Amino acid sequence: MSKITTLNDFVLERQKDFAYATGELTNLLSDIAVASKIVNRDVNRAGLVDILGAKGETNIQGEEQQKLDVIADEAFIRAFKSGGEVCGIASEENDDFVAFEDENSINGKYVVLFDPLDGSSNIDVNVSIGTIFSIYRRISEPGTPAVLEDFLQKGADQVAAGYVLFGSSTMLVYSTGNGVNGFTLDPSIGEFCLSHPNIKSPDTGRIYSINEGNLDRCDPGVKEYVQYCREDDAATGRPYSGRYIGSLVADFHRNLLKGGVYIYPTTNNWPEGRLRLLYECNPLAFIAEQAGGLSTDGHQRTLDIVPTELHQRCGYYAGSKDMVEKSMSCLKHKE
Ligand code: AHG
Ligand code: MN
Ligand code: MN
Ligand code: MN
Repeated sequence: MSKITTLNDFVLERQKDFAYATGELTNLLSDIAVASKIVNRDVNRAGLVDILGAKGETNIQGEEQQKLDVIADEAFIRAFKSGGEVCGIASEENDDFVAFEDENSINGKYVVLFDPLDGSSNIDVNVSIGTIFSIYRRISEPGTPAVLEDFLQKGADQVAAGYVLFGSSTMLVYSTGNGVNGFTLDPSIGEFCLSHPNIKSPDTGRIYSINEGNLDRCDPGVKEYVQYCREDDAATGRPYSGRYIGSLVADFHRNLLKGGVYIYPTTNNWPEGRLRLLYECNPLAFIAEQAGGLSTDGHQRTLDIVPTELHQRCGYYAGSKDMVEKSMSCLKHKE
């Protein structure tokens, strides 16, 4: 019988990879696992108790908040506050960053940026949703309140990143910059167990994921790439399959495992792009690169973008290396 490795075992085992490790990152990843289990419980019973539907409020991006957006946001904040490793957070559902100034947290080494519930338009229809997180070491002095600069770091400086996918099973996938590993929640024992060790994304694939309804609002280069995906060509396995769930985290995860490209380009109505750099694009870009894939905004590496705002948006091309490169060559060619 093969050995069961729980997330906690695994993270502890890996702690020795970090010269500077004091166990705080290990504890922080455990906090994330606990919050994920709480959100998982709420997501799973969402149709049975009154936690489906809109909350009746809008977030800073002008989106209608769903009840689960707020439940997930609060569950993660509670876990980070009680853990003491984090001195502040920023999330999609909070206008500004939140500095934790209590005695327990003010010395925390890390800040976390997260999308508490990704794919919230899919909640009410029982389709996969997720949580995305990004962890940085703080720049400000421990013992002082976190400042904006702690959160506006470029993606390349992430210490760890990952996501939780509430799909047909619940998975947590993360990287600390030393490969990507995936854990599936075994609900009977309430533990995330290693199910996808050392995930490597295929260099190419046969899936393209884009909201094609927006195609007439995109640059000609994007249209050209989609046209390329749709062409018949036995040698390259085209036409590719179009797959678009509308939950970034689920679309990204499928493409990571099977090989594919996810595109949310800048459009006429989203001139800066639709997805948010700090808590959607960067953490998934970190995972993509760690798995051997690529991520760009159409022009430059996502992880090199220097952020200027918490809720900054950007174009997004992520997934299998060859497919991202091909999509970018179409953009260049049409500029
Ligand atoms: P969120 O639910 O966290 O606000 O994110 C929504 C994002 C992402 O999950 C998804 O891929 C994308 O918006 C879908 O956008 P369109 O409906 O414009 O395709
Ligand atoms: Mn939203
Ligand atoms: Mn999202
Ligand atoms: Mn969200």
